Amino acid sequence: MFVVSRADEVPLSGGDVTAGVVRVGDTVRRPLKATSSAVHALLRHLEAAGFDAAPRVLGIDELGREVLSFVPGEVYSPFPPGDDVLAELARLQRRYHDAVRGFMPDARWESGSADDAEPEVVGHCDITPENVVFRDGLPVALIDFDMARPVSRLFDVVTTLRHWAPIADPVDRDHPDLDTGRRIRIFADAYGLSAAERLRLLPTARLRFDRSYTAMKHKAETEGGGWAVMWESGAGQRIRRAAAWLDANEDDLHRFLQ
Ligand SMILES: Nc1ncnc2c1ncn2[C@@H]1O[C@H](COP(=O)(O)OP(=O)(O)O)[C@@H](O)[C@H]1O
Ligand SMILES: [Mg+2]
Repeated sequence: MFVVSRADEVPLSGGDVTAGVVRVGDTVRRPLKATSSAVHALLRHLEAAGFDAAPRVLGIDELGREVLSFVPGEVYSPFPPGDDVLAELARLQRRYHDAVRGFMPDARWESGSADDAEPEVVGHCDITPENVVFRDGLPVALIDFDMARPVSRLFDVVTTLRHWAPIADPVDRDHPDLDTGRRIRIFADAYGLSAAERLRLLPTARLRFDRSYTAMKHKAETEGGGWAVMWESGAGQRIRRAAAWLDANEDDLHRFLQ
């Protein structure tokens, strides 16, 4: 049992979706969701597999919140634009995919978009800058597994690239000068994408835009909360602009994947 005085609680901002995330000492408390038992099974699987780059599940506190280990380090938004950061993130996602291989319980995962490929892993599906912890300038851990669900590895990879290459219209970028094609190549090499996956990467990213637009719109309408705030702040239009930018640049980007 974790008994704390609420005076010890430090609000953790930076996320878009979950209200009431707080730090208490070396722990993080988050409200339980319908998908929490699936996410806890995932985090316990990662722990048993020796994957050290995710929070540990410590239990449920007296207020009915999940208790996770606090991962020390920094969370950056905007993300640091270095190539070494991107390559390290790719290796981290690959290590995650290798650690979850074979873990596919019949469980209630968060709903969300996917491609049409057979699911290969329980992907993180939300590797945004706000969900990556850094130490000494490099990514060392993934947090916030709330969006985890069965997908192809490539679908999880294009979700990460959407944020970190990034695959975005220049008006929506924090770093307007980054060369997206070169960075997709750096990620693909560091992750170890196969030739077949490289060929499917851009079509999968394109498909993801249409499906995540529909999925986010649905969550904003049915769940409200942070999803509605994101939608009202223009998330849907950012997705539409990113899709149009990808259409206009797909041939140029493709050259980096051959
Ligand atoms: N286990 C953790 N270790 C370190 N920082 C955390 C942890 N969990 C959350 N945070 C911090 O709190 C922020 C919001 O938490 P997060 O779980 O991502 O909520 P949301 O679902 O709203 O995105 C994160 O961006 C991060 O800065
Ligand atoms: Mg988050």
